[in-house]
Amino acid sequence: MILHPKPHALTAFNRSKSSFRHLISVSNPLMAPPVAETLAKDADDSLCADALPDEQRVSDPAAEPILAVSASPRREVSGGESRIERAWAHWRKLGRPKLIVAPMVDSSELPFRMLCRKYGATAAYTPMLHARIFSENEKYRSQEFTTCKEDRPLFVQFCANDPDILLEAAKRVEPYCDYVDINLGCPQRIAKRGNYGAFLMDNLPVVKSLVEKLANSLEVPVSCKIRVFPKLEDTIKYARMLEDAGCALLAVHGRTRDQKDQRKVRADWKIIKAVREAVNIPVLANGNVRHMEDVCSCLEETGVEGVLSAETLLENPAVFAGYRTEEWAKDEDRTREAKLDQGDLLSEYLKLCEKYPVPWRMIRAHVHKLLGDWFSIHPEVREELNSQRILTFEFLYGLVDRLRELGIRIPLHLKEENTPVTPTSERSDE
Ligand SMILES: Cc1cc2nc3c(=O)[nH]c(=O)nc-3n(C[C@H](O)[C@H](O)[C@H](O)COP(=O)(O)O)c2cc1C
Repeated sequence: MILHPKPHALTAFNRSKSSFRHLISVSNPLMAPPVAETLAKDADDSLCADALPDEQRVSDPAAEPILAVSASPRREVSGGESRIERAWAHWRKLGRPKLIVAPMVDSSELPFRMLCRKYGATAAYTPMLHARIFSENEKYRSQEFTTCKEDRPLFVQFCANDPDILLEAAKRVEPYCDYVDINLGCPQRIAKRGNYGAFLMDNLPVVKSLVEKLANSLEVPVSCKIRVFPKLEDTIKYARMLEDAGCALLAVHGRTRDQKDQRKVRADWKIIKAVREAVNIPVLANGNVRHMEDVCSCLEETGVEGVLSAETLLENPAVFAGYRTEEWAKDEDRTREAKLDQGDLLSEYLKLCEKYPVPWRMIRAHVHKLLGDWFSIHPEVREELNSQRILTFEFLYGLVDRLRELGIRIPLHLKEENTPVTPTSERSDE
């Protein structure tokens, strides 16, 4: 068992949860296995892959709507109103988070979540974890799932197709999270081969059994993240089935299983709105969030409780604090350059990785995403990074310095009227 290097962060937590202490573990970055260092050859295979390095509304009647939300029709739900009320009570207890880090294999790991939280994210998902491997393999658990007491509210996401195996995995994380989430949206080849994620849309009885099992056996609520069917009525039936099975929160990615290219196909917010109106539990929207204006439009147009962002956060973890990358600033004539840039965000991320160690392959992927625009000006620096089989923090901090010495300055932007959201760690009340 590898213990956290900063025990103060978890002392009280561990004391009360001693039987699960082994879960809150981290890998030593200097010992990250070399195989984890290699870049994924096929992004399709790495996404949602078994990332095991060595084995390769009734709308809430009591709640004040934040934005104008049309009234939702009530419908009968098996288990009755009390289950729906519990779902809402839990959501309210968490503060009804609106700005949420989406699940990302190898990318929504603890230090990245903490960076996003610092810049305005109010909840986060872990990367998808493979339920069977999680149950069986201690090394996978300790490398792929780490958390700390500040890492809340937290959704821990699993992929699975066997209810008993899913429950076994879920039991292990239950004390450390606010929802156990089932990945029903992964569209990649690996999910097809493993028969999980969006491929379970072909076998809804299995999906139902997964949700029921968790809903009937766990203390924490179950959430699901889905893609939509090509036909609206199928999506609505699907969402209602999940709700009836015990799902207490639904995140809807407004693309179908076949719409894999997120840059080309826009997510359909109208379908998300229709789902939100068709069910009684809290609904979250996913897709097309590139800056805070998108967040506001999405909340307004769909009436959902919150939004998930993935790709945008990878390039700009400060998006929820109002920052925009150059790409989205240039359409806006009233933005100003911010002091903060992606190099600063990378340095902050690296510091968090020193505090909360993770496998190097995750760090490497974030360096590429955060400095992508910088590397396109100086590709030789990217080459230098790619040629390093073994990474060190010294090398990576040096990489940012080198780019700055080469004169690169790609600022983030803030809208004129925007005051940046105060990073949570700097708030006077904390
Ligand atoms: C690198 C990466 C890894 C992802 N891994 C997961 C995952 O583990 N589980 C999941 O449900 N979705 C995963 N997704 C999908 C995102 O959560 C999200 O649904 C999708 O990217 C659409 O949101 P966006 O338009 O904000 O990017 C991943 C996306 C990316 C870019």
